[in-house]
Amino acid sequence: MKNLFSLAACLFVVTALGVSGAYCSGGPRPAPLPKAKTIKELADRYDSSKCIECHEEAHEQWENSLHSHSILGSPRTAPTILTAIDKGLKRFPFSGVKDDKDITVESLMICAKCHLPQLDEATDDVAQEIVATIRAWQKAGKEGNEDLYEELEEKISSLNIGCMVCHNKMAIIHKWSDGYPQRDTVYGSQDGEHEYEDLPKIAKAPALSESIFCGQCHGLGPNFELEHPSQCGTLYGSYLYAYVAHGGFETCQECHMNKSGLGHDMQAYNDEDMIKMALDIKVEARSLFWRKNKAEGVIPMGIIMVDLYNKAGHVIPDG
Ligand code: HEC
Ligand code: HEC
Ligand code: HEC
Ligand code: HEC
Ligand code: HEC
Repeated sequence: MKNLFSLAACLFVVTALGVSGAYCSGGPRPAPLPKAKTIKELADRYDSSKCIECHEEAHEQWENSLHSHSILGSPRTAPTILTAIDKGLKRFPFSGVKDDKDITVESLMICAKCHLPQLDEATDDVAQEIVATIRAWQKAGKEGNEDLYEELEEKISSLNIGCMVCHNKMAIIHKWSDGYPQRDTVYGSQDGEHEYEDLPKIAKAPALSESIFCGQCHGLGPNFELEHPSQCGTLYGSYLYAYVAHGGFETCQECHMNKSGLGHDMQAYNDEDMIKMALDIKVEARSLFWRKNKAEGVIPMGIIMVDLYNKAGHVIPDG
């Protein structure tokens, strides 16, 4: 009865606000877990290998995507984070960062907001450990110490956008109406029981199949909510204002997960089929002789017509 009542109350509030299609699949904000004190603790909390046993295909696909190493990147991201600290934060007079030991979770959020959102569950020691690990990894690379280089690269890759970042932490966007993600639940396309004792429930994530879900990180433009707005992923802005505004109606998931056949291996220009999906190119050429003027007389001339039609749901390239 209590459940029925809270469901009714929830739907009422939602209707009163005029929001349709809302679910109460979340719940009250859970008490925060103790902050992770090391990279290892944070990585263990979000370890995707726990899901391999039963979701082998999703895991294999995900492992090949950039989401599985979102701090390391291609590996361009980790070095760029150092550049942002050394050439940005340390030079800004009011950032509070003069030295690596001044780095905090808040200061690293300028990148981690999207590259590692779960960093907000860690202490400042972890933020400093991440920077120290990237420096040690670069040094090992320069010195040709391959074993150490690989070991550190693995440690950096253990920090990523894993299964539970999307299927729990980021799964509910409108938390005041739909509730906060619960610790015993994975969020997917239906409500039910989950045959996994650590996470015994499945609940419907209201927007998992909608573009706004990806838009949480593939953003709109500058992140004004940060003390010092940064701008990196901007495709959701371009999707809304240049694609949807001109009649485009497919979602990120439809193109990147379904039509591409790649599922959780969300790719772009690194995948041959995505490149084919991206552009229609029509080239026409003809050559002729042209009487230009009295002085130059008849000259050879070429006319080349190139039609480029962007079929992606946004501007390319991004960033
Ligand atoms: C012991 C097996 C097992 C483990 C381990 C497991 N799952 Fe599942 N999971 C299942 C089964 C079975 C289903 C139901 C599949 C269905 O109904 O389509 C399921 C369903 C799901 C769904 C819902 C799919 C949908 O949209 O209907 C998600 C999301 C999910 N699991 C995520 C995870 C994540 C994340 C992990 C690791 C933290 C995990 N699972 C670990 C067995 C498991
Ligand atoms: C938690 C934040 C987050 C969410 C949610 C997210 N992404 Fe990403 N995505 C990233 C980051 C960060 C990268 C880049 C990682 C790197 O290389 O440093 C990325 C990379 C990608 C790439 C590869 C781009 C390239 O340059 O090759 C594609 C494609 C992509 N994401 C699509 C999606 C789609 C589609 C969704 C929604 C289903 C989604 N992402 C949801 C953060 C996110
Ligand atoms: C608004 C979310 C967001 C923020 C904040 C953000 N990024 Fe990104 N970043 C992304 C996404 C999403 C991608 C995926 C590719 C794309 O859209 O170009 C990406 C891609 C990248 C890439 C290219 C990926 C590769 O592997 O080659 C680098 C490098 C990068 N980010 C570095 C940074 C750094 C450094 C910061 C902090 C100063 C930062 N980003 C802040 C979302 C973000
Ligand atoms: C970047 C976000 C993201 C990450 C990371 C992610 N998923 Fe998903 N997952 C999605 C989205 C979005 C869908 C729904 C796709 C759709 O609507 O077509 C989905 C669907 C699913 C489903 C439902 C069945 C299916 O395959 O469509 C399962 C099961 C699942 N994910 C498991 C996992 C597991 C296990 C991992 C980790 C190895 C994982 N996911 C990592 C975004 C993510
Ligand atoms: C109509 C299909 C379509 C839709 C909708 C779509 N994409 Fe793409 N996207 C593509 C294709 C095709 C590419 C490959 C082009 C390339 O990267 O050169 C691409 C490339 C990308 C890239 C790499 C950009 C780069 O730097 O070149 C990212 C990241 C991405 N998409 C994310 C998203 C997100 C997030 C959404 C939803 C907000 C989305 N896409 C919607 C088709 C689509």
